[in-house]
Amino acid sequence: MRESDSNLDAYDTADARHLKPVKQPVDWVPAEEAPATHFQSPTARSSNGDRSHDRRGVSTNLSFDHLYASSSASFMSPELRDRVIRWLRRHVPISRLQHILRVEQFSVELAQRYHLDPEQAAQAGLMHDLAKFFKPQRLLQVAQAEGVVLDPVDVANPHLLHAAVGAIVARDEFGIQDEAVLDAIRNHTLGCPGMSALSCVVFLADSLEPGRGDTPELVALRQSSQQDLYRAVWLTCDESLRYLIARAQQIHPRMVLTRNWALGLTHKKTPTSRSH
Ligand SMILES: [Fe+2]
Ligand SMILES: [Fe+2]
Repeated sequence: MRESDSNLDAYDTADARHLKPVKQPVDWVPAEEAPATHFQSPTARSSNGDRSHDRRGVSTNLSFDHLYASSSASFMSPELRDRVIRWLRRHVPISRLQHILRVEQFSVELAQRYHLDPEQAAQAGLMHDLAKFFKPQRLLQVAQAEGVVLDPVDVANPHLLHAAVGAIVARDEFGIQDEAVLDAIRNHTLGCPGMSALSCVVFLADSLEPGRGDTPELVALRQSSQQDLYRAVWLTCDESLRYLIARAQQIHPRMVLTRNWALGLTHKKTPTSRSH
């Protein structure tokens, strides 16, 4: 029997919208097939979306064992980390788990650089994609049951909800109560105007982790992430927006708001525009 078999899905009832979650662990059903990723760094993707190779075809995946034992492992309770990784092994493919472990590590590195709490960064990094492979219907169902306010772009692209739903899974399945960690999970895809430095770190780590490749754009963005958190958020949003526009995909208004917020903070610090 799987660990979660004895805990039937708390949301899987006719009146799921009225359920106040979330005392029980939930049978989170993964999608048979991962939907196309909506907001991802536009600079390096493999055809199957896992971006395990850069444009030169060079493998950027370290082995699972190597990633599992990375230095970021020491910033979380080993029991919690093992429990999350065991759960992930049942709910996401190995390529996604490798990405998640790289995001965990990059989040810790950025947190240390900006004097943030590495434990919060490790937790948010490790749990940011818990719902990545949930079916679209399930994402909508869980989000609605939780009272998440849906934009029409969310309804048209339920995959975007994996960030909000991931925070719900982190809370319900793993008992995460730290709102800063939950916010960082919620904000990892679209950001949010006014988001915390921790959220910025996880947002950037998700887009810029080494498995994304080594294109000139990514190299520049990584460099920026080491110098100015908000400037890097602005520039990363710009890259995502360029990607979406080039492919005639919908743009979630929250990403534009995040971009404008980060741009505003950057210009306040280092004005570059001339007045005419
Ligand atoms: Fe994600
Ligand atoms: Fe991710």
